[in-house]
Amino acid sequence: MILVTGGAGYIGSHTCVELLQAGQAVTVVDNFCNSQAESLLRVERITGKTLTVIRADIRDRAAMEQALRSSGAQAVIHFAGLKAVGESVENPLAYYDNNVGGTVSLLQAMQACGVKTLVFSSSATVYGDPQRLPLQEDHPLSATNPYGTSKLVIENMLRDLHRSDADWRISILRYFNPVGAHASGLIGEDPQGTPNNLLPYVAQVAVGARTHVNVWGNDYATPDGTGVRDYIHVVDLALGHLKALERLRQHAECRAINLGTGTGYSVLDMLRAFEQASGRPVPYQIAGRRAGDIAACYADPAQAAQLLGWRAERDLQAMCQDAWRWQSGNPQGYRSDTSNA
Ligand code: NAD
Ligand code: UD1
Repeated sequence: MILVTGGAGYIGSHTCVELLQAGQAVTVVDNFCNSQAESLLRVERITGKTLTVIRADIRDRAAMEQALRSSGAQAVIHFAGLKAVGESVENPLAYYDNNVGGTVSLLQAMQACGVKTLVFSSSATVYGDPQRLPLQEDHPLSATNPYGTSKLVIENMLRDLHRSDADWRISILRYFNPVGAHASGLIGEDPQGTPNNLLPYVAQVAVGARTHVNVWGNDYATPDGTGVRDYIHVVDLALGHLKALERLRQHAECRAINLGTGTGYSVLDMLRAFEQASGRPVPYQIAGRRAGDIAACYADPAQAAQLLGWRAERDLQAMCQDAWRWQSGNPQGYRSDTSNA
């Protein structure tokens, strides 16, 4: 049994599909602050299997102990947290409370229940402004906003925990830029309000919900001047979690591993790929740089290949096609009419 915190969210729901399809029993803990219960009904529809859902907050340690005991979980995949960079600058305490405080409470509950295997969602944001590319796991770590700091603090906490008790088995997965959706078109990213991230915004332009994309800067030192990122299909990312769990069965370690493709694409590459996948125009305007943005960021995914036997298999076309299938079938996300989803 695997306990998945934040399992109703974007990456969590895709990981639940892969876990269930691999024959794992799954219990989700989510407070639904950034997701809909509908996503988990869709997970069940895709897989033809059921999972247990517990509506609880990870900051509620007693509820977490109860969830661990009642589910009989052997391991936890921990997605629950807040992830909007701008919001974290405006309301840092919410990020320290939810991300750091929530993780402390979860770890205390795990310790009390003797469950010491954890896969944690970190981010390439912990590398700060890259000093060299591609990014390897030993690149110096830094943070430029409270969201990034919360990930760094949690990473350090996990390393300290493992040093204090070598029974802990911890995989820190540093995601690059997750995009796309399940090939069924039934689950995908469902941002509330105006999307901050590029691909959900592009998808809303293609579907006609917004007029154009603002390209945040074309004067970076990149091939076409626009920002370069390592976009990774969310299903590939989800599969990386299963591989991380597999490794932890053999290794009592605490290790950070990049989950990326190793290839960088520019904003304009993404717009063109999305136009092709959707058959719809994606108008854009060049706007000023976004505060806090970096020019380029992409992974060296060699460790994941060596240690996990994992590599990303879905290409840019699949990322855009699957994102488009989700967006066009569910123009209002999970609040869309479900009869034709
Ligand atoms: P998401 O917001 O879609 O999913 C997070 C889920 O956690 C949501 O269902 C939310 O309701 C739940 N949640 C939040 N706080 C909670 C709490 N206190 N108690 C219980 N549930 C809570 O986000 P996502 O994109 O699926 O991201 C999952 C994880 O991966 C996050 O930790 C995020 O920081 C990390 N991450 C995401 C990205 C990305 O681009 N999506 C990149 C790097 C890292
Ligand atoms: C953002 C977060 C980062 C987080 C990552 C994945 C910021 C400053 N950083 O990074 O902490 O880990 O998401 O969730 O928010 N772009 C546009 N127009 C848009 C949106 C984006 O041109 O409307 C550009 C950006 O300038 C960037 C690229 O598209 O070059 C990707 O942007 P985005 O999807 O927000 O991801 P990151 O910038 O990598």
